Amino acid sequence: MKNHKNTVKAGYNAISEAYLEARSRDSEDVRLLDDLVKRLPRGARVLDAGCGAGVPITRLLSTYFDVVGVDFADTQIGRARELVPDAEFLCQDITSLSLPAGSFDAICSYYAIIHIPRQEHPGLFMQFYRLLKPSGLALLCLGADDLAEDLVEDYLGAPMFWSHFDAATNLELLAGCGFEEVWSRIVPDVSSPGSGHLFALVQKRRA
Ligand SMILES: C[S@@+](CC[C@H](N)C(=O)[O-])C[C@H]1O[C@@H](n2cnc3c(N)ncnc32)[C@H](O)[C@@H]1O
Repeated sequence: MKNHKNTVKAGYNAISEAYLEARSRDSEDVRLLDDLVKRLPRGARVLDAGCGAGVPITRLLSTYFDVVGVDFADTQIGRARELVPDAEFLCQDITSLSLPAGSFDAICSYYAIIHIPRQEHPGLFMQFYRLLKPSGLALLCLGADDLAEDLVEDYLGAPMFWSHFDAATNLELLAGCGFEEVWSRIVPDVSSPGSGHLFALVQKRRA
């Protein structure tokens, strides 16, 4: 399991620039943020978990909110600090964040959880629940199909690893943590025709 995480971390350190260049800026996934923006007060405290180089997601969030971006790849975090100077950044593994309970009004995580061995997903969802304030929102990009693990030798020039549950299992796991679903939908992957991801907006109970 450790090796898979090292593969992902080393991979994004190596392909940081290539990923940023290839990253879509005005696609359906990015436009889903509009709904989160509408539901939160200006200045809300938002965690971007697996923020990468911060563009476009952290940058967009930071125009409205007080944002903390977290990524375990130091090249990604270095680039994010330059590109999104208004946000705060931490170089940490999002599965073991040393932050107090109830720290955030919302959590956003795009295309990061799908790189974490899926045995860790239930614990990660519980941690997100703990980090949110009562009624806090989480907008999460998750797997749409069942994929125990997939290791490819060349993703934008580096080895890369993916692992996730199917959409129904993801929604069950989130409900099991206490989250209530606001909406969920499969969004086609613009860089990989024929495949897609589950995007889910879920809410922590009031108290
Ligand atoms: C595909 S990129 C997405 C970046 C950004 N969220 C976006 O939508 O453009 C995935 C990012 O998640 C980070 N990541 C993957 N697993 C992580 C983990 N366990 N802890 C922290 N960051 C992680 C990677 O380093 C990478 O920067």
